[in-house]
Amino acid sequence: MSNTVDNPFFARLWMFMSRHETEAIQRLRRENLAGLSGRVLEVGAGTGTNFEFYPDTVTEVVAVEPERRLAEQAQRAAAVAPVPVTVTADTVEHYAGGAGEPFDAVVCSLVLCSVDEPETVLRQLYSLLRPGGELRYLEHIAGTGVRARMQRIADATLWPRLFGNCHTHRHTEQSIVGAGFQAAGARREWTLPAWAPIPVAEFALGRAVK
Ligand SMILES: C[S@@+](CC[C@H](N)C(=O)[O-])C[C@H]1O[C@@H](n2cnc3c(N)ncnc32)[C@H](O)[C@@H]1O
Repeated sequence: MSNTVDNPFFARLWMFMSRHETEAIQRLRRENLAGLSGRVLEVGAGTGTNFEFYPDTVTEVVAVEPERRLAEQAQRAAAVAPVPVTVTADTVEHYAGGAGEPFDAVVCSLVLCSVDEPETVLRQLYSLLRPGGELRYLEHIAGTGVRARMQRIADATLWPRLFGNCHTHRHTEQSIVGAGFQAAGARREWTLPAWAPIPVAEFALGRAVK
């Protein structure tokens, strides 16, 4: 498996989307990070959109971002972040944890849809956390009925190619528990009306503990 992601189309698209995020998504980002402290690993940081929302109780963020164009943007966001952030250009699969102590928390936002094998990645994240450490996640999730059918069609056709390997019909919360985490609170939120024909409108925001 490669240690980089090279996707110029998606990188440009994501830079644009990051600059035009809705207030609803930014509120969910802030909520996902609220109350964190200590050392945090952020997986697939994109342009570093989360960085400004880390509370000052966080002492260090190690942000993994393997797409070099996005990593460059993340470096810029890191330079003005309210907490120390180091950006590393590995895929999470190749990130070995550095020389430091285990992490107090791992943050995943809009990324478990994009890795090839979420179950493998989640087991790895579990191993990088200290006992009692937590996974914070903000991820769009698999729907049911007509929406599930729409998501499966999207995943089998153009969606992953257009959106950086994003898969819309993943049962991410089941995978989190399957990797050994204990669910510690979650809620769902629609960021678009439920009838909108967009496969990624429903999000799960939650915590899971090692
Ligand atoms: C949809 S973007 C989300 C970015 C960011 N987490 C956010 O909330 O804005 C998905 C990100 O995951 C990254 N990514 C894809 N595969 C990855 C992998 N194997 N390891 C780490 N990051 C990965 C992509 O480069 C991209 O930046």
